Amino acid sequence: MPSLMNNLESRNLAYLQSLENPEAFWGEIADQFTWKRKWDKVLDWNFETPSVRWFDGAQLNITENCLDRHLPDRGNDPALIWESNNPQEPSKTYTYRELHEAVCIFAQALRNEGIAKGDRVCIYMGMVPELAIAVLACARIGAIHSVIFGGFSAQSVSDRVNDAQAVAIITCDGAFRGAKDIALKTVIDEALTQCTSVKKVWVYQRTNTTISLLSGRDILWSDAIAAVDINQAIAVPAEIMEAEDPLFILYTSGSTGKPKGVVHTCAGYMVWTHYTFTQAFQYQPGWIHFCTADIGWITGHSYILYGPLSAGATTLMFEGTPTYPSPNRFWEVVEKHRVDILYTAPTAIRSLIGAGDEWVEKHAMPSLKVLGTVGEPINAEAWYWYHEKVGKGRCEIVDTWWQTETGGVLITNLAGATPSKPTYATLPLPGVEPLLVDEQGHEIFGNNVSGNLCIRRPWPGILRTTWGDHERCKQTYFSTYPGLYFTGDGALRDENGFYRITGRVDDVLNVSGHRIGTAEVENAINLYPGVVESAIVGYPHDIKGQGIYAYVIYQGDTTDRESLAKGINEVVSKTIGAIAKADKIQVVSGLPKTRSGKIMRRILRKIAEGELASLGDTTTLLDPAVVDEIIAGRR
Ligand code: WT7
Repeated sequence: MPSLMNNLESRNLAYLQSLENPEAFWGEIADQFTWKRKWDKVLDWNFETPSVRWFDGAQLNITENCLDRHLPDRGNDPALIWESNNPQEPSKTYTYRELHEAVCIFAQALRNEGIAKGDRVCIYMGMVPELAIAVLACARIGAIHSVIFGGFSAQSVSDRVNDAQAVAIITCDGAFRGAKDIALKTVIDEALTQCTSVKKVWVYQRTNTTISLLSGRDILWSDAIAAVDINQAIAVPAEIMEAEDPLFILYTSGSTGKPKGVVHTCAGYMVWTHYTFTQAFQYQPGWIHFCTADIGWITGHSYILYGPLSAGATTLMFEGTPTYPSPNRFWEVVEKHRVDILYTAPTAIRSLIGAGDEWVEKHAMPSLKVLGTVGEPINAEAWYWYHEKVGKGRCEIVDTWWQTETGGVLITNLAGATPSKPTYATLPLPGVEPLLVDEQGHEIFGNNVSGNLCIRRPWPGILRTTWGDHERCKQTYFSTYPGLYFTGDGALRDENGFYRITGRVDDVLNVSGHRIGTAEVENAINLYPGVVESAIVGYPHDIKGQGIYAYVIYQGDTTDRESLAKGINEVVSKTIGAIAKADKIQVVSGLPKTRSGKIMRRILRKIAEGELASLGDTTTLLDPAVVDEIIAGRR
């Protein structure tokens, strides 16, 4: 596998080479994978269209790189360790051979029902090994998977299924998560009343809750795999995929409209997740990697599944939550399985800080070597606590900045090899050329500056399109600053050229590391009878990073504010999912708008943050008096 950049000098050298001759640089790295056919051209790109093609002409199947190629040397090594939500339930281990077999079997079950290359399959499951198997089985047969996080509502599921025109769903009867038992199949049943494209539904039974099966459409996972001949299934070759064939769609929220389906393709995504996994964590063979994300998010795709498995690592998949049954659950899992790399989100760290140091102090966790953080800016307090209490002062922390759209990490320190700096993601990986621009798109040069973070050229894992709407991809990422990929984040660059990500500069919220679009939440709130208009903004929240503050114009009885707030949040839960519920709801008689009718979110943000002294000029507003009223009613 690619040699590790194990100090700043070798990183700097690789970085220069990657920019001077990207084709030679990535060609050499890609040479180490299993290809059915090698590429004709390493890179072709144009950010105007936009069009990005990596390893064009090559053919491969990513699952052969994640499974088959490890069989000769590592067939009996653990590929996947699964730890239950319930500490009393035994964990499960799949060796590479066993995982390969399970994937081949379920791939055959999919083929038996006519699922074929290019078909879209939505996956809505809890964190059980069968989720990993389902994802890889889709990839095996060339079906495009679209995993939908188990916390999304029926409405959100049907929106995604319809947008992707999925022909099949793979789900569970229910999911265990902390003290909760979530009925997934019921949600699917409700969602599918609005979807005509779905012909088949597989149901893996995890909670053994009562479910209804629609005959002709629904199949139990256990029945489906029992009907497969194992030897025959293993003998079927993996589907041959073109480098730029879509591997998956993952829906993510933006500042406007409905979630968009970010599309990643086979070859570039594989190379990028592999490269970034090994380099950022400085992965050593035999290490156990525990990424605490859900596979419903990009972090789970890239760093529970494709990155670690392509590297032949042991990946640990955890069904539960950090605090159930008590706030030492992560530490128990780390000790039980002798985890080497722990990769989690600042919001989890902050909630564990809140639970008290005694929980983590009971656990020595001598196996830990590298700690990763992802999903939102990490505050200094959380960084130091992670370093001292979890890592006992002897583990490296990597602060990895990236996005659903980037496929894998773009800016990070390399564990122990390049300097870390608390709250800084530090330096870009080879192939990544970041720059800061001002509002007008002029590049901001030099150090000790801040601006909007853009990237000048494609890396192998960049998104290729948004499903069914290429124009939206162009508008969202490539048009704000022509010729550049715009991340939507603000950043500053210190005296060493290290980057610190300061957060979104668009109307996207990051609540507990989950990405939430303001427009989506507003549309949901507006469905509540009596709501005339609403505007939501983020505000600093001790645990979630950002909380959701909703300003609502409501025509009706406002005497019982609590039940009004409850009613509004029920609609939000039903329309999007519980993750999008508002933390604070303020009823207002009007919203601050410009004369052209645009809501001045900047002002609403300041009020929600309590920064009342710096509201800026409000005299140009349509109705400046409304601002005083909103301030007076602040929650
Ligand atoms: C947004 C992307 C990346 C996978 C999980 C979230 C924020 C992500 C960091 C970090 C500061 C970060 C950014 C980014 N973000 N990592 N290390 N430091 N901010 O993926 O849902 O696509 O969200 O998460 O604001 O734009 P996502």
